[in-house]
Amino acid sequence: MALQQAPGRRAFLGTAAGAALWLALGGMPARARAAQPAPAFVLPPLPYAENALEPVISASTMGYHYGKHHRAYIDNLNRLAAGTGLAGLPLEKIIAASAERADAVALFNNAAQAWNHAFYWHSLRPGGGGTPPAALRPHIEAAFGSVDACRKSLAAAATGQFGSGWAWLVMDGGKLRVVRTTNADLPLTKGMQPLLTIDVWEHAYYLDYQNRRADYVEAVIDKLLNWDFAAQNARV
Ligand SMILES: [Fe+2]
Repeated sequence: MALQQAPGRRAFLGTAAGAALWLALGGMPARARAAQPAPAFVLPPLPYAENALEPVISASTMGYHYGKHHRAYIDNLNRLAAGTGLAGLPLEKIIAASAERADAVALFNNAAQAWNHAFYWHSLRPGGGGTPPAALRPHIEAAFGSVDACRKSLAAAATGQFGSGWAWLVMDGGKLRVVRTTNADLPLTKGMQPLLTIDVWEHAYYLDYQNRRADYVEAVIDKLLNWDFAAQNARV
């Protein structure tokens, strides 16, 4: 299925729906099968092997984070959406419909976490970090002064987020910004286009770094960030 491909493709991300459409792959309608219907939402494949991010992120962390936590959000979403008319809708539609609704907190949390994690996996790559693509650098320098200042801003947001949440590089009204969100929340609910994210829930790093979140954040920024993915999402 075409949308099961990795999302780092300009041809796809350059469409109007961009990364959002790709992330809807978890919401592709299930085709009827002979024995019983397949789940409406499926766990999207990792874009690399579980050990590909070592030594920064261990295969053990990936096994739990992707194989247990991300899968649980998908499983919960299937359970919560069953019979509601929402099953199989793009995750963005479920997120938009359930955001800030007191009667849909669990639905929002699981749909948003399904989206966030799919986006996070692609925000990282083996051999990442380094220098952002030339097309992105002027935007970084305009917003932050330098690439190093951008990295420091992202690190400060990720390290300083109190409790569970996410640090993001976003495009907001044509300008790059670093923002952070709490728990499952994400920039889409605020009209901002995510470019990159770093998961700072403890499950993202505790097996490898215990309470040293700053060490995890620094290593991710230096060695794993997928700046090409950011540039594709920024459409620059
Ligand atoms: Fe996570």
